[in-house]
Amino acid sequence: MSSIKAVITGVHGYVPPDLLTNQDLEKMVDTTDEWIRTRTGVETRHILKGEGLGTSDMAAEAVKGLLAKKGLTANDIDLLICATVTPDHVFPATANIICDKIGAKNAFGYDIAAACSGFIFALVTGSQFIETGKYKRVVVVGADKMSSIIDYTDRSTCVIFGDGAGAVLLEPTTENFGVLDSVLKSDGHGRVYLHQKAGGSVKPASHETVDKKEHYVFQDGQPVFKAAVVGMADVSAEIMERNNLTADDVAYLVPHQANLRIIDATARRMGVGNDKVMINIQKYGNTTAGTIPLCLWDWEDKLQTGDNLVLAAFGGGFTWGAVYVKWKK
Ligand code: UT7
Repeated sequence: MSSIKAVITGVHGYVPPDLLTNQDLEKMVDTTDEWIRTRTGVETRHILKGEGLGTSDMAAEAVKGLLAKKGLTANDIDLLICATVTPDHVFPATANIICDKIGAKNAFGYDIAAACSGFIFALVTGSQFIETGKYKRVVVVGADKMSSIIDYTDRSTCVIFGDGAGAVLLEPTTENFGVLDSVLKSDGHGRVYLHQKAGGSVKPASHETVDKKEHYVFQDGQPVFKAAVVGMADVSAEIMERNNLTADDVAYLVPHQANLRIIDATARRMGVGNDKVMINIQKYGNTTAGTIPLCLWDWEDKLQTGDNLVLAAFGGGFTWGAVYVKWKK
């Protein structure tokens, strides 16, 4: 094992100013504020509006804020990894566009597509570059403009998702802080329950695919819900067990924000109380790759050196996992 570890030395987020509330959605589809709140936990979502604005614009704002906080310039970044399922384009990578928008000339970059687990997959990947000793500053950003792939006539998906971005800076340390362990899993079998039917190489976009609304998110909610409850709880319990962490040792569970009921089930399985669970789904909805860094951003002021965090996610793919992070202020 490398003696160098990757520690999170900064976090920042960005959500666009426009809000979509449950009351707005009541006017758009056959739903109620009560159904949405009790079945999902969501109350409002932020939506990126404006001609020509995409995922990279939100990510660039998050990264610019992160650099300003740290007193760094864009040229101090060695590598930028962007986790997203709503890239600006199929290619080039959104990471490259973010680097261009912030003026990062020394960084290489690429995207990771692991849906709602994208941020934790990218965090672990970015950490490995630090652990080799070769790279000193890696930015990992999770960003999604979910509104670009949501059908706002489909009540089963449009109430859940929102837009947003969060970014963290990873730097090396020889102390026992940072990304200490991870359990990452994939099972492509689950793809049938949550995917975008058209627009990829299997079914390129055509008039027909657009007419059939196949460029939007398709989700069969119940099977995803069941798999998420088991998957997220399993990996969270596993990472605690193999790091000898009891519920008392855990400062916070930092869960992907897909559904409050999934979060509650994970917390119950870990034995941690509600006061130790980061929840902001009511404000942002499910921002896919953005949820976990947005939680860290919202809780940043409360986090103390030595806090043990369990980051956990489940999403399309299926992909899921948990990461053990020891915080350094
Ligand atoms: O982040 C990526 C991974 N995704 C997830 O983790 C999401 C997992 N799934 C879920 O969170 C839940 O399955 C949903 C929130 C998507 C749906 O909740 P549910 O409790 O599983 O509802 P359901 O799909 O079983 O539907 C129950 C009823 C249905 O009506 P009938 O057939 O019983 O008459 C739906 O048509 O609720 C209806 N329904 C709605 N009613 C009012 C579905 N969406 C809505 C809605 N408003 N927005």
